[in-house]
Amino acid sequence: MKFFIDTANLAQIKEANELGILDGVTTNPSLMAKEGIKGNDAVMQHYKTICEMVNGDISAEVISTDFAGMVEEGKKMAAIHPNIVVKVPMIKDGIKAIKWFSDNGIKTNCTLIFSAGQAILAAKAGATYVSPFIGRIDDSGWDGVELIAQIANIYAIQGFKTEILAASIRTALHIVKCAEAGADVCTCPLDSILGLLKHPLTDIGLAKFLEDAKKFA
Ligand code: G3P
Repeated sequence: MKFFIDTANLAQIKEANELGILDGVTTNPSLMAKEGIKGNDAVMQHYKTICEMVNGDISAEVISTDFAGMVEEGKKMAAIHPNIVVKVPMIKDGIKAIKWFSDNGIKTNCTLIFSAGQAILAAKAGATYVSPFIGRIDDSGWDGVELIAQIANIYAIQGFKTEILAASIRTALHIVKCAEAGADVCTCPLDSILGLLKHPLTDIGLAKFLEDAKKFA
């Protein structure tokens, strides 16, 4: 399973990248706004900076909701760097745009996936990735990880090549469960990635080893 970081914060991207385990980055308009980035030029420059920091797929989300607008925006984004993946919302014109990008050799990430039917349609249109939002499904009283397993099963049966990118990850346990359920990628906040490091017995064991090491130092 690949690890992406889900942020537009450069310090966090740097920290995750320095672990040596980072395969890519996902952003969205909310994450960009959180960093205080304003204006189209600044947004494009920010994507370029991220592409230069991380050697992997970098999702940049369109804000148009019509086919022509999405294609125009996506073409500009794809021209920034070969690793740009155009992130397109799961709407009717989004599906048309994903098909267009797919036919024109531009990678896509179909975002805001909340059902298996949406995942089938995005795969059929040729999406490189689909992003089911695990945490938000849990928030609404359903089981986000179950959706990952369902999509993984359907894609395996049907031979779809689209990769399942588990998004809206909130905890380290989400990452473990998505790995079990067959996600190809998990895009996570830095805290969830670092949460994988934690176990109290590791801390207790290391403290004891270091204490004993003093006896022969
Ligand atoms: O990748 C999608 C993600 O950013 C949404 O996460 O926590 O806002 O549901 P969240």
